[in-house]
Amino acid sequence: MGLFKPSNDAAKKAAAEAALAYVPRGGVIGVGTGSTANCFIDGLADLRNQIAGAVASSEATAQRLRKVGIEVLDLNSVNELLVYVDGADEINPDLHLIKGGGGALTREKIVAAVARQFVCIADDSKCVDILGRFPLPVEVIPMARAYVARELVRLGGSPDLRVGFTTDNGNCILDVHGLEILNPIELEREINQIVGVVTVGLFARRPADVALIGGPSGVRRLTPRP
Ligand code: 5RP
Repeated sequence: MGLFKPSNDAAKKAAAEAALAYVPRGGVIGVGTGSTANCFIDGLADLRNQIAGAVASSEATAQRLRKVGIEVLDLNSVNELLVYVDGADEINPDLHLIKGGGGALTREKIVAAVARQFVCIADDSKCVDILGRFPLPVEVIPMARAYVARELVRLGGSPDLRVGFTTDNGNCILDVHGLEILNPIELEREINQIVGVVTVGLFARRPADVALIGGPSGVRRLTPRP
């Protein structure tokens, strides 16, 4: 179970459909996790004969891809990943993201790192000027949970254990409230350095390359501000 988020289904679907134009015909595509990524998988199903397969960012996504007849490939067996399509919990004008509301942040960050192009899809409720209103997910090795929580408090956050949730990698998640993230690149580096942290759900050192944002007047295509 992920964090509760309000639904904006039509806008998510529109953004997901716009991302189908980025699908590398004949190539392998990386596919993210969450309700917006699920809309993308629904559309990708119609293109299944035009791709070589997909790399999934979670077990849930792998299952859904297989269900619509798309072959799921091990990232280690893929030489080139041209495109990764995934949702986000918050997006700033630099296309720095908060991700991990669905708990798949570690595999998402790995696939995003490998992909040549990261296409973020979302409804317009996800766009913010400053990241941090959405609690920042941090995946943590279970034995380090209390230590990491104390370190996150030192950084000004209020971490909450995501109760009853275990990641695909067997770890727990701390959701950090109360952060106003003025320097996402620096905070990502700082949190990554805490011993016991597997991944922080800040995607700033590797931001999205393009964001497709669904809203009442259609889909806007954003690139990082110059
Ligand atoms: C999962 C994620 C999702 O991309 C993020 O939570 C957005 O989800 P949704 O598309 O359901 O709003 O990071 O770990």
